[in-house]
Amino acid sequence: MNIAVFCSGNGSNFQAIVDASKKRVFNARVGLMVCDNPNAFAIKRAAIEDIKTLVVDIDNFSNKEDFENRIIKELEKEKAGLICLAGYMRILSPFFVQKYKNRILNIHPSLLPRFKGAHAIKDAINAGVSETGVTVHFVTEELDSGPVIFQKRIAVRKDDTEESLAQRVHKLEHKLYPEAIRLFIEGKLMIVDDKVEVLP
Ligand code: GRF
Repeated sequence: MNIAVFCSGNGSNFQAIVDASKKRVFNARVGLMVCDNPNAFAIKRAAIEDIKTLVVDIDNFSNKEDFENRIIKELEKEKAGLICLAGYMRILSPFFVQKYKNRILNIHPSLLPRFKGAHAIKDAINAGVSETGVTVHFVTEELDSGPVIFQKRIAVRKDDTEESLAQRVHKLEHKLYPEAIRLFIEGKLMIVDDKVEVLP
């Protein structure tokens, strides 16, 4: 199966997914990286890994539908069976989510439903919580809300800064995302009543 990874920035999760596929953690290859930010470091990573990249700048499209159709064209060409959002900072339209229903995963740096949105790590620090974590979930039309595959906790230390906490969060993300992808590829994730059941 071909995986498409969507990024907007650094792409460290993209890198972790590529590394895992090379180590055969799961039996699928990353066939495409889609990036909506022409300045993202993720583009350099994809070039180094020799992975086909589609850079789509929304400013070059007259509307979001055209923008997404360009992406869909490439996904179809590459026969993408799974889409992994990895720091992709744009909300997918309901049309797109329906088209790839139950085939889009996302990783989020908090224990959802706490700290939804783009600043989850900073929000956790500011809220003074003693623990936060990482969630991998299926993507639905509602932001950061789909059926949860994994959640893992991380203790927040009294002296943590956004940067120090982010380091531990990312380390955990890089382990967790490939593991969730493995379960998906092996057909072990079932959604029953909006909840994920992991088959043995
Ligand atoms: C990660 O923390 C991920 O959970 C969130 O965006 C960040 C992306 O980081 N959705 P990177 O681009 O993979 O390094």
